[in-house]
Amino acid sequence: MNRIKKVLFTAITLSALMLSACGDTSGSSSNDVKAAPVNKSAAVYFSRVGNTDFPGDIDAVSSASLNYVNGELKGNAQLMAEWIADEAGCDVFEIVSEESYPADYNETVDLAKKEQGENKRPKLKQAFDNISDCDTVWLVFPNWWADLPMPVYSFFEEYDLSGKNIYVFITHEGSGYSSTIETIKELEPDANVVEALSVKGGSVPGEESSIRDYVKKQLG
Ligand SMILES: Cc1cc2nc3c(=O)[nH]c(=O)nc-3n(C[C@H](O)[C@H](O)[C@H](O)COP(=O)(O)O)c2cc1C
Repeated sequence: MNRIKKVLFTAITLSALMLSACGDTSGSSSNDVKAAPVNKSAAVYFSRVGNTDFPGDIDAVSSASLNYVNGELKGNAQLMAEWIADEAGCDVFEIVSEESYPADYNETVDLAKKEQGENKRPKLKQAFDNISDCDTVWLVFPNWWADLPMPVYSFFEEYDLSGKNIYVFITHEGSGYSSTIETIKELEPDANVVEALSVKGGSVPGEESSIRDYVKKQLG
């Protein structure tokens, strides 16, 4: 992480930790609330990687905080969602904004702040037709400015998840959940919203087994 990012996230982390008791700076955390039985589920995620047109020659420095799996660039939330789906034997749906975010990290940080200030609902690229068949959604997204990325708000506006379990997984650089659980409960008042796991970005690759174990446990 370069110096600007470090300064930004130190500031974000301090303010977010003051605002929320959910913050954690360790690898992962969870509460152990059990939801209704999981029969048919889907892993839904938003990640910077799938929402960015990176140049083909992205170098090692600018991609230092990204993951390469078998030569493929993957986001932290994406990795988490793929392990969850593999464990649950379910489909994966990616939340993708029609308009890509800039490849430059700091430009994305600024644009995300602007979108948040405007309470924007970016139009989503693809529809999740079979969501009504699912009783459970494993939702994974990165903390963006102590909040949900705005395309995740668009997802909640497009789909009514009433009566479903929503297991919320977040990845972050120190803020943990901030107040995202409360926000999701407001957006989906008739869903069973469960705080699942909060995983710090750099710790994601090392948390595969704890993420898989968590899902296994919910499947009973
Ligand atoms: C626009 C933007 C805003 C962010 N805001 C925060 C924040 O407020 N608090 C925090 O802990 N991390 C913040 N982060 C860091 C990401 O949550 C973290 O790096 C995450 O692991 C990235 O997941 P991804 O690879 O799936 O996109 C932000 C990152 C971006 C790009």
